[in-house]
Amino acid sequence: MSELVYIQKRLFSQISDDDELDCGDIDNYSDSDEPYPFVKWAGGKRCLLKILLANMPNRINSYYEPFVGGGALFFGFHQRLSKAYLSDNNPELMITYTAIKKDPKRLIELLKNHEVHHNKEYYYDIRQQQPDDPYELAARLIYLNKTCYNGLYRVNKSGKFNVPMGTYKNPRIVDENNILTCSAALKNVTLECHEFDSINPKSGDFVYFDPPYHPTDVINFTKYTQADFTEQDQVRLKDFAITLHKKGVKVMLSNSNADFIQDIYKGRPFYKQVVRAPRFVNCKKDKRNPVEELLITTYKPQKNIDR
Ligand SMILES: C[S@@+](CC[C@H](N)C(=O)[O-])C[C@H]1O[C@@H](n2cnc3c(N)ncnc32)[C@H](O)[C@@H]1O
Repeated sequence: MSELVYIQKRLFSQISDDDELDCGDIDNYSDSDEPYPFVKWAGGKRCLLKILLANMPNRINSYYEPFVGGGALFFGFHQRLSKAYLSDNNPELMITYTAIKKDPKRLIELLKNHEVHHNKEYYYDIRQQQPDDPYELAARLIYLNKTCYNGLYRVNKSGKFNVPMGTYKNPRIVDENNILTCSAALKNVTLECHEFDSINPKSGDFVYFDPPYHPTDVINFTKYTQADFTEQDQVRLKDFAITLHKKGVKVMLSNSNADFIQDIYKGRPFYKQVVRAPRFVNCKKDKRNPVEELLITTYKPQKNIDR
C-alpha cells in the first residue's frame, strides 16, 4: 500500500461520510497522536481533507502552502513530505508557527500560565497587550484563539485583534501533546511570512492555494487581515497559478463557488469541481449548513470534472 493510500485510509476511518463535523470544533480529535491545527482558523480545511487528499497528485517533490492559516492539509499529510514550505502574510501567525517549531516547551509553559489565570478580565487585559517577545506573542495568539468568540482571527483598522471573549465553559487552552506533535511535524519545514506569490517552486513541486474566499454574498464576506483580498488579488492569484503551471508545478486551489471565480478559472489549464464543505465562519448556528465551494486543479483530478 502506498503511503498516500495508507494516510487516506487512516483518515477516512476517523471521519466517516456521515460525520456532521464542524470545521471549527476540531478538538474532538485531540487524542490522536497525529498533529492537527493548533489554532481554529476561518476557512480551515479539516472537513475537506478527504476530498483534498483524493485530488492531490500522486507524486510530489516539495510542497508549498502559501495561505497556510491553520495548516489543516499540511498537518493531515505531513508524513508524506520530504520538504515543505509554509507561509502566510499574517506575521503573528507565522511567529507562532516558528515558536512551535523551535521551542514548544517554552510556549506550553506560557500557555499553562494563561490557563491558570483565564477569566473575563484577564482575557481583555491580554487582548489589549502586544508583546515584543515572540513566545509571549505566540502564546497570546493561541490563548485568544482558544477562548475568543468562534475562534475567529479578526483585527481592526489599526491591526489590533478585536474579537470578544467566547462563551466556552471550559476552553482547552493548552493541548500539550498536539503542540509537541506539531513541532515535530514542522522540524524540516521552511516557515516564512510573505505574499502568496513570493514562493518559487520548481517543476515537480506541488502548491496548494487556499486564499480568502471571494464572497458569494455580503453576509459571507470575511476579513482575515487588515487588507482585504480583492478581485484584483484573485486575478493575480489565477495568473500566478498559470505561471506555475507553465513551469511544470502542479497546483490545487480552493475558493468559493462564486460566479466571479467560476469565470476567471474558465478553460485551460484549469479543472473545476464543486465540493461540499461544512463551514463555521457563519455566526448563526442554524446557518452552519454545508456550503458548495470550488476545488480547482491544473491537472486532471480523479472525478467530477467540470471544465
Ligand atoms: C482560508 S485561510 C487558509 C486556511 C487554511 N487552509 C487552514 O486549513 O486553516 C486564508 C489565509 O490566507 C492568508 N492571506 C490573506 N491574504 C494573503 C496574501 N495576500 N498572501 C498570503 N497570505 C494571505 C490569511 O492570513 C489566512 O491565514
